[in-house]
Amino acid sequence: MTHSKPKIVAVDGPAGSGKSSICDEVSKRIGWTYINTGALYRGVGLLALSRGIDLNDSASLAAMVDEIAPGLAWRSDERSLWYKDRNLTLEMNSEQAGYAASKVAKQAAVRDCLLPVQRQLTLSAPKGSLVDGRDIGTVVFPDADLKVFVTASLEERSRRRMHQLGTDTEPQALEDIRKGIARRDERDQGRDTAPLKQASDAVVLDTSDLSMEESILALIRLLKERDLVG
Ligand code: DC
Repeated sequence: MTHSKPKIVAVDGPAGSGKSSICDEVSKRIGWTYINTGALYRGVGLLALSRGIDLNDSASLAAMVDEIAPGLAWRSDERSLWYKDRNLTLEMNSEQAGYAASKVAKQAAVRDCLLPVQRQLTLSAPKGSLVDGRDIGTVVFPDADLKVFVTASLEERSRRRMHQLGTDTEPQALEDIRKGIARRDERDQGRDTAPLKQASDAVVLDTSDLSMEESILALIRLLKERDLVG
């Protein structure tokens, strides 16, 4: 019996747009696999930091990522990230990991090395995968069954991030977060290799004025419209 190719939904978008939370919940409701590709970049960033590697040193990063890629694992069922027997999940969600990830993600050698890891993870899913990142619809799976570009205004993304961090509502705290996200957007959109951009055939899902539940239902509606789920 031949194993039919799993369905693939590519979900790209900027930091704080809500794509990870939406994919996480939608995949649970429809019984698909959730692949958080940002976690892999965060893992590379964290390991580079713990080894004292300069995040701008492309040669050292290239050598490191070649060595570590076989041991780096995203476990979709637990939403956890591992390097060999080290659980990186808690560290992965820190601001420091996000910063390091966006720096290492600029390096072509890092991206090249993570490309087959992302494809292999996705293609081994039993039913279908929701894959979120920055270049999934443009580079990793240009022939995905559905491409969605999730976005939200910078103001709204900053407010959500502040809420997530549990920071108080001082105007300065919000302003610092807003600047950090704007810098991250600039790095992700401005890099030479696989920059964040909307695929020409992607459907835009603007969550600025949507609750989490409304966003989840909007993605499920898109999947149904394409007959990807019943
Ligand atoms: O989605 P995230 O915030 O966990 O991603 C962390 C960083 O990794 C982000 O700044 C850009 C980078 N990234 C990427 O370049 N390509 C991907 N497919 C996923 C993440």
